[in-house]
Amino acid sequence: MLSAEDNQLLCRVEGNAPMGQMMRAYWLPICLSDEVAEPGTPPLRLRILGEDLVCFRDSDGRLGVLDNHCPHRKALLSFGRNEAGGLRCLYHGWKLDVDGNITEMPAEPAQACVTAKLKHRAYPVREAGGFVWAYLGSRQPLPVFEPPPFAPVPDRRVAIAKTLVACNWAQIVEGQIDSAHSSSLHSSDMVPVRGTDSAGAAADRWTRPSTDRAPRIRVQPTSYGFRYAAVRRPMVDEATHDYVRVTAFVAPLTCLIPPNTSYAVSQITVPIDDHNSWFYFIASGDGQDVPTTEVWRQFLHLQPGIDVDDGWHRRRHAGNDYLQDRRAMAHGSFTGIDGIPTQDIAMWEGMGSIADRTSERLGASDIAVVRWRRLMIDAARAHSAGSSPLGLAEPRVAQSRIAAFEGIVPKTVDWRTLGTSAEERAAYPQAQVKLRPGPAAK
Ligand code: FES
Ligand SMILES: [Fe+2]
Repeated sequence: MLSAEDNQLLCRVEGNAPMGQMMRAYWLPICLSDEVAEPGTPPLRLRILGEDLVCFRDSDGRLGVLDNHCPHRKALLSFGRNEAGGLRCLYHGWKLDVDGNITEMPAEPAQACVTAKLKHRAYPVREAGGFVWAYLGSRQPLPVFEPPPFAPVPDRRVAIAKTLVACNWAQIVEGQIDSAHSSSLHSSDMVPVRGTDSAGAAADRWTRPSTDRAPRIRVQPTSYGFRYAAVRRPMVDEATHDYVRVTAFVAPLTCLIPPNTSYAVSQITVPIDDHNSWFYFIASGDGQDVPTTEVWRQFLHLQPGIDVDDGWHRRRHAGNDYLQDRRAMAHGSFTGIDGIPTQDIAMWEGMGSIADRTSERLGASDIAVVRWRRLMIDAARAHSAGSSPLGLAEPRVAQSRIAAFEGIVPKTVDWRTLGTSAEERAAYPQAQVKLRPGPAAK
């Protein structure tokens, strides 16, 4: 439960809202590389943190992210023509390059653009892991750009599904640090299987080596956010072992979900504004079992042209009750809703565009959610007061070192060591291996 004031602080990202201002201190994923794949392709209209932007790849292959409102009289540049060397506004033909230089003003006297020395707002851009990243802040020098933890090297195989969600970003992230819901909401798509010691990925479902629906939640703060464990009884060796799923939250928007035997799983939530968000669901890895983008989107029921339209709006949405099928529910489907993400989205959007956290009844399974809210609220307040944002102050843990974990482990192993690097354990001395005298007390 939060006060109304803290709920606003947590959720609001537009304009001068402290949370949005803190997010601007990070490199943010603003769209997929595939959406601006080729030089000279149509510019992409974007809205991130309540700001209207346009992203385009110019004729030389350079990416630009600009304020979408033309500097002349504010028409939208995203309607413009992507011509040789820049984007031309349709209204009076001003042309802008990827750095925001105005290179032509055809309706003005010759040399006008040279003498005016106008510069349009343009943001630094990078590409990595299948995303275009922009830095929307004002800090100089720029913060170091690191490839994301799910794709620390350029040849990592990455498949990304995308959809627009009609609610605030925070209730989406909360869904990613809430392992308990998967045993209920996703129970038809994540099924217990005996005889394995890890989560698996079949063509149409995920498997888990546990039937335990009431995980114990443990939280470990880190410099970049936190890690938390959901500890369940495994189907084998219950007396001596635990089934442990460790999720890493990497501020401000990324969650590394426990992997399966075939690939790692990550989720990124990007606020479009206070009431809408982009949701990205990512499979990645080095092996041949990482699905192609097409197979991944098919698995998640987020296939363009079938499940989502050109603007990533889903065919299953609040207006048609997400095509919930009550007959399927009578025949074994827990939710009657197709697709793991759409099951989540039905819950998130159903909370209202900004969830009212002033009258909730939280339980023991919500500990990570409670800690996450406090972490982000405190971080936003501290950032407003001049502190470095989470994860950006030295000493930092390299993104490539941050990982989730899942597996059946002896109860004598401290979960905080699972999936962590020596570098990270050194940064958090309390995460050293601790051998307990006997089975861990629960
Ligand atoms: S409004 Fe863009 S050129 Fe006039
Ligand atoms: Fe979920």
